[in-house]
Formats: sequence, C-alpha cells, structure tokens
Amino acid sequence: MCGIFAYLNYGVNRERRYILQVLFNGLRRLEYRGYDSAGICIDDSSSPSPSPSLLPSPSSSVNGCPPLVFRQEGNIESLVKSVYEEVAETELNLEESFSIHAGIAHTRWATHGEPAPRNSHPQTSGAGNEFLVVHNGVITNYEVLKETLIRHGFTFESETDTEVIPKLAKFVFDKANEEEGDQPVTFSQVVVEVMRHLEGAYALIFKSQHYPNELIACKRGSPLLLGVKDGAVSILKFDNAKGRNGGTYARPASVQRALSILEMEVEQINKGNYEHYMQKEIHEQPESLTTTMRGRLIRGGSCKAKSVLLGGLKDHLKTIRRSRRIVFIGCGTSYNAALAARPILEELSDLPVTMEIASDLVDRQAPIYREDTAVFVSQSGETADTLQALEYASENGALCVGITNTVGSAIARKTHCGVHINAGAEIGVASTKAYTSQIVVMAMLALAIGGDTISTQARREAIIDGLCDLPNKVREVLKLDQEMKVLAKQLIAEQSLLVFGRGYNYATALEGALKVKEVALMHSEGILAGEMKHGPLALVDENLPILVIATRDACFSKQQSVIQQLHARKGRLIVMCSKGDAASIFPGGSCRVIEVPQVEDCLQPVINIVPLQLLAYHLTVLRGYNVDQPRNLAKSVTTQ
Ligand code: F6R
Repeated sequence: MCGIFAYLNYGVNRERRYILQVLFNGLRRLEYRGYDSAGICIDDSSSPSPSPSLLPSPSSSVNGCPPLVFRQEGNIESLVKSVYEEVAETELNLEESFSIHAGIAHTRWATHGEPAPRNSHPQTSGAGNEFLVVHNGVITNYEVLKETLIRHGFTFESETDTEVIPKLAKFVFDKANEEEGDQPVTFSQVVVEVMRHLEGAYALIFKSQHYPNELIACKRGSPLLLGVKDGAVSILKFDNAKGRNGGTYARPASVQRALSILEMEVEQINKGNYEHYMQKEIHEQPESLTTTMRGRLIRGGSCKAKSVLLGGLKDHLKTIRRSRRIVFIGCGTSYNAALAARPILEELSDLPVTMEIASDLVDRQAPIYREDTAVFVSQSGETADTLQALEYASENGALCVGITNTVGSAIARKTHCGVHINAGAEIGVASTKAYTSQIVVMAMLALAIGGDTISTQARREAIIDGLCDLPNKVREVLKLDQEMKVLAKQLIAEQSLLVFGRGYNYATALEGALKVKEVALMHSEGILAGEMKHGPLALVDENLPILVIATRDACFSKQQSVIQQLHARKGRLIVMCSKGDAASIFPGGSCRVIEVPQVEDCLQPVINIVPLQLLAYHLTVLRGYNVDQPRNLAKSVTTQ
C-alpha cells in the first residue's frame, strides 16, 4: 500500500527546481498511503527538444546520462531534505531547464522488506538504471520470477517484490533486441510483455533510459489516476482472455477514458488554521454531517423533515426489504460504525442484521446467500480485505450495497448500488469525521428501509428531527475540547485505558479505544459492559483508568449498576453521562464525569465518540507522537 506519482512535461519548459517541487507535492498528497520511506527519479540532463510528432526514439543502446535516483528512509520531508542536501553537494543545477522531462516518485508502506533505502522505490534493473519502476500493490508470483531472473544472471539487492519488475523489463528488452534486429521494440511492447508475467494487484509507472522521453503507467486491480492539462489521453487496460491452450493471457486493449474535472476544494486537503489534519477533521464534523445529510432529508408540510431519500438505493429498496437478512461488512472504524448502526437497522427493518469483519468473513468462507443484502462500509472504498469480501459476496449472489466516502472507488464501482457519505476528504490516518458520517448514513438507510410503516412513524420522525439538529449538538460537544486536554494530561503516563459500553454505545467503546491505541500508542480496549463480570472485572484496581459510557438510553440503569460494581472494587472511574446527570450518576462517590448533550438514542454514538476522539488527539500530541501518521499505519490498506 504505497503511493506512486509521475510528472511528464512535454514541450513546456520547466526548470529542475519546479519539477522537483511537483514531484514532492505529489508525494505529499499521497503520503496518507504510507510514509516509511520514499524516493524519486529525475533526468540528469535535458534531452533534445521533442520532435513535432512527439514520437520517442527507442534505442538498444543506452541514451544519454543515467537518470538520477534518490531514495530515503522516513517520510517525504526526510526525502526532500536529503535530495536538496545532495543537490547542493553535487552542485546540480536547479535552474537547468527541460523542454521534456520524465520524473517518477514513490512513498512506501513496507510489505516486503524493512523500510530502508535499498527497499525503497524506484527499484531498478541494476547498475546504470536502464529501467526504473515505482509500484503500488503486491506481485504474488515474484519469488518464481526472481528465481528465473537469477538463473539468467541478474542479482538482487532488495527484499521487495517490486525489484523483479524492472529486471524483467531489462530481460524482455534485451531479448527483444536480440531477436528483432532492425525492428526496435517500443516501450509499451516491453511493458505489455512484463505485465503478461506479473500476477497480483498493482499500479506501476515505468521509466527507462532507452526511452528517455516517455513514461508508461499501467494497472491491474490497484487504482491509478491520470491527470492531464490539455488534450485527451488513452491508457492501457488489460482484459483476461482465453489462450489457445486453454490458459488465460492478458490482452491489452486501447481504452479511451473520459476526462472529468475533480471537484475537490483545495481547503479540503489543507490543514487551514489547525495544527493537524486529525484535529481539523474532528472539528469540522458539524459541517461534514450537514453535507452527508444534504438533500436527503425530505421536509413535510410543517417544514419538518419527514422522510429520507437515498437516490443510490431507491431502485433497490424493495429487494432489500425482501432480503433474508442484512450483513454488514467492513474493517476497523468502518466496522465499528456499522456496529453502532446495527440496532436501529434491526428495529426499523425488522430483519436480522449480522456483522462481519471483512477478513474474517473471507477466512471462514462464511455462508452468504442470494437472498442476503450485504452492505460494505469503507471510507476509502479501496480496502483490500473489504474488496475481497465484496467479490466473495457477489459471487454468492447477494445484493451488494456500498457505503463509501470515495466516489469512483473500487467498492463504489463493484457494488450493485450504494450511498456516498460525502464527508469530504479525510487525510488524517485515524478516521474521525468519516465514522460519524457513516453512522448517519446507516441511520438514514434504516429509515429508508423502514419506509412508511405506521407503527414506527413517530419513532422515524423523532430520528429525522434528531438528524436535523445533530450538527448543532456536535458543535456543542466539541466545546469539551479543553476538558479533554486536561483529562489527557492526567492520563498521559498511563499504560492502558479500558472503555466500557453497551447497546448503541458498545461501538463507541470499541471505536474510542481504537482511536487511543492507534494514535496515542497506548493500550486501550473497548469492552462490552455486559461481559464485565465474565473476565474483565479481574483487571480492576485503583490504578487502571476505566471509562464507562452511561448516557441515557434503554441500557442506562444497567450501566449504573456497572458503575457501582466497579466502584465497589475501587475502580478508577471516568464516566460519560448525559448533560444534567453528573450529580446523580454516582451517588455516594466522586469520579471524573464527561457530560454530553443527549440526542435520540440511535444518534448518541455520533455525540459520544467526539470527546473520545478529542482525548485520543490530545493524548497523542502530549505524548509527542505523530497524530496524522501513526507508526506502522497507512490510510488506505490496499494489501491483504
Ligand atoms: C482507524 C481506521 C481504520 C480503517 C480501516 C478500514 O482509524 O481508519 O481502522 O477504518 O482500515 O478502512 P476503510 O474504511 O477505508 O475501508
């Protein structure tokens, strides 16, 4: 799960300084995909001006100077620093102008081989850098390819799966030139031949000294975007076709892609006045929730919202209502969001609703039926585990519904229908605003499935009213920011934090604990309060901090009893309760209380998670860790 980026300017004069900036900025935008090492490759000196036909001139002998490769362990800024240091040391001219220049860049999240310069990309074909490749994805048959290439005299310096690709390109290139004689092989012919041997999911960009004015980008499975300033482009796409011997081979097809304008405001991907993306994304939840609901709550005559319209589902609601069950499938925070929404789905749809962690569903090959509605929840829409579960459910004939934040993502494309959460770009690795928008979309899904059943009308209208007012309530709960900072100071040196929840807020306990562990790097566990007596109670003493979620809902009195039992064992308690309950929540004792606004029970998880997001954020900053790029994590998990 890496990020690849390339910049090709053709016939437009650009200075080396500018080209470097474009490559670095491209990587900065992709850093969310991984940040344990990075690299770039740029041209050493300018090639002759492009010919009017813009046709490159392939050659079996190496053209011009070898390109310059920079690779560095650490994040993009470490790479930037080391490149400028090397530029200064070698007196490389930053003002040198290129009428044509092909630069490639990579940010890595290690899968094969530790983060180190030798395992960073671009990976090369060997001394002289004849072929260079940046890669996102995994080559599953790389060991076989590696053995073959070693038999042909290649030596390998990295532990990556990627290194086989440029070496295979050199092998194919050399062989073709031996065989073809006067008919030089083109760059795309080399790449097509390489792709025929690769198995797995990947997006690749090739650069070669033999084709100095060209870059070739190709993909199978992994996402790849082509941005153009003027004119149209076509890219290679592979379809599997039956070979004469019955096997499958990859057949390249020229595909004309329609250009679309990216509708993303620059502010969405800037930090604005905030210090970190996670902080910004927590604080913009009133706005992201408003956008999630925009145009979807239909107002009745009295100016009150009375029903829900989810355009992406309207043709499928009847099928969903007739399903045998609804199965929610996701990973991490997206799974937790579905768990938070499950009770309202069960209540309003009157259907059994089951939960599946995507990887576990696939591991067990659990039964999925034609009569099932399988709902795939994913912020990125690209998570490999969720995608694999989607393929599995689709093969089993289920109706597949996608709930994603990313228009055009693999999950959005491969599901039969779905709803976009429209939370806006989420850059911080820890998901925050996508979580609350996912819950809101699933609450709206429950309302849409519930339809116009008379018996639930009052309940549905109360939820719709609650949804309309939710952004205001989130604004109110965000005022706890400083209080959470004070709490974070008190918890800064702790080893562990337990979070107890139940009912609608079991998910809040899991999600709050996930936030604390992933960014603050503190052990934290979300526990179903009903399970307390069946094991976790043994952990309770006067030192271990325990946060109990006890806001008003049907489980309130049970949570009061949990608090009493924990208190009886001298537990170090922090209680989250509804506004006004602080005095009564804990008669006869005192503990730290977080008071939050009360909303309709099924929407309460949206409110309750906010103080925990703030707590995780402040704990992380106070402990001196990287908030937006937690150790070992990446935003989109596109490998299994
Ligand atoms: C945690 C987090 C992850 C993701 C998980 C699924 O803050 O962000 O747990 O929720 O990797 O990702 P998506 O939602 O993109 O499928």
